[in-house]
Amino acid sequence: MKFMSLLLAAGALTTLVGSCNNSSENKNDQAAKPGITKTDWGEHDGENVYLYTLVNDKGTKVTITNYGGTVTSFVTADKNGNKSSIIIGFDSLQQYLQKPPYFGALIGRYGNRIGDAKFSLDGKTYKLSANDGKNTLHGGLKGFDKVVWDASVPSDSVPSLTLKYLSKDGEEGYPGNLNVTVQYTLTNDDELKIEYNAETDKATPVNLTNHSYFNLSGDVNNTILGNTLMIDADHYTPVDSTLIPTGEIKAVKGTPFDFTSPKKIGRDIDSVKGGYDHNWVLNKKDTSLQKVAELSDSISGRSLEVYTTQPGLQFYTGNFLDGKFINRDGKPIKQHTALCLETQHFPDSPNKPNFLSTILKPGEKYHEVTIYKVKLN
Ligand code: BGC
Repeated sequence: MKFMSLLLAAGALTTLVGSCNNSSENKNDQAAKPGITKTDWGEHDGENVYLYTLVNDKGTKVTITNYGGTVTSFVTADKNGNKSSIIIGFDSLQQYLQKPPYFGALIGRYGNRIGDAKFSLDGKTYKLSANDGKNTLHGGLKGFDKVVWDASVPSDSVPSLTLKYLSKDGEEGYPGNLNVTVQYTLTNDDELKIEYNAETDKATPVNLTNHSYFNLSGDVNNTILGNTLMIDADHYTPVDSTLIPTGEIKAVKGTPFDFTSPKKIGRDIDSVKGGYDHNWVLNKKDTSLQKVAELSDSISGRSLEVYTTQPGLQFYTGNFLDGKFINRDGKPIKQHTALCLETQHFPDSPNKPNFLSTILKPGEKYHEVTIYKVKLN
């Protein structure tokens, strides 16, 4: 049966019950069969919000809401066959409306920071919303993570979800109407594939990413400091005290930023003030889809491979997580209990002539792909 018809058969209020063996997952497991189902999840800004559940042949499950294009869970089996979500998140829209720091969300129009919340383009200066001190972060006050996206389910042979959003000319200070399409696909190889497409009618900076926070053990009582990480990058972009890149492209060799060979995250983190929250300059030489990072967790036996077409990777060790938000399993999300691997162009590129351009012009097509692939070690 095509997944589209599965969806329609399931109806708007889905009550399918799955067969997960972890009790914390059981109550929310709305689809055990491969395919995609849709559940009413409330309303925001007068628009309907849904939760989509994508399940592959192995029973791996990803839930995504059209509020912020947010991935709310990514449930896979660990080495003992127990299922849990490798990303942190909540089970209700209400909790996402409390503005957690971008848990699982789509980030735009410009992921990461732009210094002094302004940039100049073609002789004109654009003033953006400052929402991180004097800088702008992750799209401004109401970025793509806080809007309701139009969702549709393509009739593909693997479960996938298409999200569309029109960011209007002037939104958060950015020029041009930007038409954005993001497609999430869950493959039978346990890959969450994210394809980003955009077009504009005026030149504008664009930098789209996803802000999932991973804890591969599936339990935020374990920090991520014991995880092993490899980042295929010989350089990174040092930052000032407000986390804006200085413009320097610095070699990682001999510094705590060297993850060229797999290294425990906790090994050198104390030598980095505040923890890791930096952009790595990936070694890849072109825009092809390549493996750029691998994270491993010995407790669960899970690994995560990251593939991308993008030139940069923001590795953030959840430094500002302070226990204020409670994970779906009732446990507080504290510092270093989850991490982000955000594929992207470099922060503040619109103000850094030596960084790759992030300007999308009318007639051009923005296209980037990132894959998060889970496997057992
Ligand atoms: C940034 C952090 C920020 C976090 C949540 C990350 O992408 O690099 O500095 O605190 O997002 O907002």
